[in-house]
Amino acid sequence: MNFMANQKSLQIASLPLQSFLDDLHDKYKLEQEGAVADYIPELAKVNPDAFSICIATVNGEVYKVGDYNQLFTIQSISKVFVYGLALDDHGRDYILTRVGVEPTGDAFNAIVLDEQSKRPYNPMVNAGAIATTSLIKGFGASERLNRMLDMFRRYIGHDVFVDIAVFTSERTTGHRNRAMAHLMLNFGMIDEPIDEALDLYFQQCAVMVNCQDLAVMAATLANKGVNPISKEQAVDSRYIKDILSVMYTCGMYNFAGEWAYKVGIPAKSGISGGIIAVVPNQMGIAVFSPRLDSRGNSVRGVKVCEELSQHFGLHLFECSHSKCN
Ligand code: DON
Repeated sequence: MNFMANQKSLQIASLPLQSFLDDLHDKYKLEQEGAVADYIPELAKVNPDAFSICIATVNGEVYKVGDYNQLFTIQSISKVFVYGLALDDHGRDYILTRVGVEPTGDAFNAIVLDEQSKRPYNPMVNAGAIATTSLIKGFGASERLNRMLDMFRRYIGHDVFVDIAVFTSERTTGHRNRAMAHLMLNFGMIDEPIDEALDLYFQQCAVMVNCQDLAVMAATLANKGVNPISKEQAVDSRYIKDILSVMYTCGMYNFAGEWAYKVGIPAKSGISGGIIAVVPNQMGIAVFSPRLDSRGNSVRGVKVCEELSQHFGLHLFECSHSKCN
């Protein structure tokens, strides 16, 4: 481990990382603040008390505590990885003509496009993610879905599946996302057939993962796109900086600025209660806890990441240790 920073974190880091995670889990497991997302009816069925923390290092070590085997749907965390696939499929220049890289300061589901360019602001909000998904290559719906599932497999290290109940629940109630797709079709930002793009977007959000999977996915981003356990290249390393940049500036929606200030590492949250955070060249962090704050971020997840960052000096601009010498 080379992620100890200041004096305080050195003391804590002298404990094995596993016991630090155990203590963190104990500290926050009774935290009851926040509410489970229910605007996709099927998501409301989750156990609100579920809680897990996992860290996967770029050396392939995994530390985990709590309900780390419990499956849940990945939701918005998928946007990070699908953006990578779109970059792999089309290259940076073309993707930039269709999706911007500007944070919005608005909610994740805001119906808003850049006034001049008519592009969605960034690939981490719903509008930008639908545009990104619409660009995934493949002949027909099933080939595009299979390419996407295979991309997730490379990051995770095993096959993944779509939760059909959650997918159909969002497909029948996701009118806001449909409205955004129509708006983008109107401005030529996405192409017909938009129902196919929306289905693929609802499917990517309904991919089932557990907390350990998320940590390995985050560690893959930390490890230049190479899964640290299977050693498979999941995304071209030249796109890691694009992915991490938009995670850093836009990954936590209208909390992104405060997150960058306090936690200081690229991250992404999902409405089902997951958060991933990436410490480049060191580790991937994942937390799962379904109770959310008003911006749609996991309450316990934010607290755990804040504490991990503080104690181990993970903030990218931390200057109280050797990183800045
Ligand atoms: O499109 C939606 O609204 C959901 N499938 C995903 C939203 C989400 O996870 C936002 N994250 N905080």
